[in-house]
Amino acid sequence: MSAPVLELRGVHAGYGRTTVLRELDLSVAPGEVLALVGPNGAGKTTLLRMASGLLKPQLGTVHVAGADATRQAPFRRAKGGLCLVPEGRGVFADLTVRENLRLQVPPWAESEDVTRALEAFPILGERLDQRAGSMSGGQQQMLALARCWLAKPACVLLDEVSMGLAPRVVDDIFAALKGLAAEGVALLLVEQYVDRALELADRVQLLERGRTTFAGPADQLDRDAVLRGYLGADVSHPSPQPTT
Ligand SMILES: Nc1ncnc2c1ncn2[C@@H]1O[C@H](COP(=O)(O)OP(=O)(O)OP(=O)(O)O)[C@@H](O)[C@H]1O
Ligand SMILES: [Mg+2]
Repeated sequence: MSAPVLELRGVHAGYGRTTVLRELDLSVAPGEVLALVGPNGAGKTTLLRMASGLLKPQLGTVHVAGADATRQAPFRRAKGGLCLVPEGRGVFADLTVRENLRLQVPPWAESEDVTRALEAFPILGERLDQRAGSMSGGQQQMLALARCWLAKPACVLLDEVSMGLAPRVVDDIFAALKGLAAEGVALLLVEQYVDRALELADRVQLLERGRTTFAGPADQLDRDAVLRGYLGADVSHPSPQPTT
């Protein structure tokens, strides 16, 4: 069996003297879709930032495609096959769609062709000369996601990419992600729509207060327990409800 595309072993991570993630193990096999769920503040974003190299672990190791990446910079890990789609819309508002797409092609790619991204999100092809900042929130999110098709990653880390979007747009985004997974790209999916994430996922890992409280096949997750975990969590910062 080939090495996991991403593997965290015994990781502790946090900010300053605060430890958020504790004794964390996580592994994503090639082509696998892993849903990472848990209440607000559980440490999901922290985990993705640490896995992609933006945050150093306090303890433990990170392996990318079998190689020790614990001390590797984000750029190196990206070259090794990781692609992070962070929270919020990571596009350059003043540049056109075409310019944004070109910037998403990594320097090590053999081709500067952006056709693959336009096949995933045809709307972008109709808007190539439009200023990215003047597009709708959903279109901007699709543009931010285009890098997943351009960087040829082995594993994409997605942080709440459906946040604040209309259900129809979320449908389009999930259909596109399903296509990406069908091409053999592994996904580590953090998602407020737990049901949608579980539909796509092979496995699920539940994070509560920085620790894993369940890891296994998506259909074996006790959804009531998840809901209790969510309700018992810090509800002073609830997830924003989707608007338009
Ligand atoms: N830059 C930071 N500095 C200090 N503490 C932080 C920082 N970012 C996050 N934290 C803290 O780390 C903990 C985990 O936050 P994180 O954003 O990883 O949670 P999350 O699971 O992504 O939550 P949500 O579902 O709300 O996005 C929280 O207690 C948060 O306050
Ligand atoms: Mg988060």
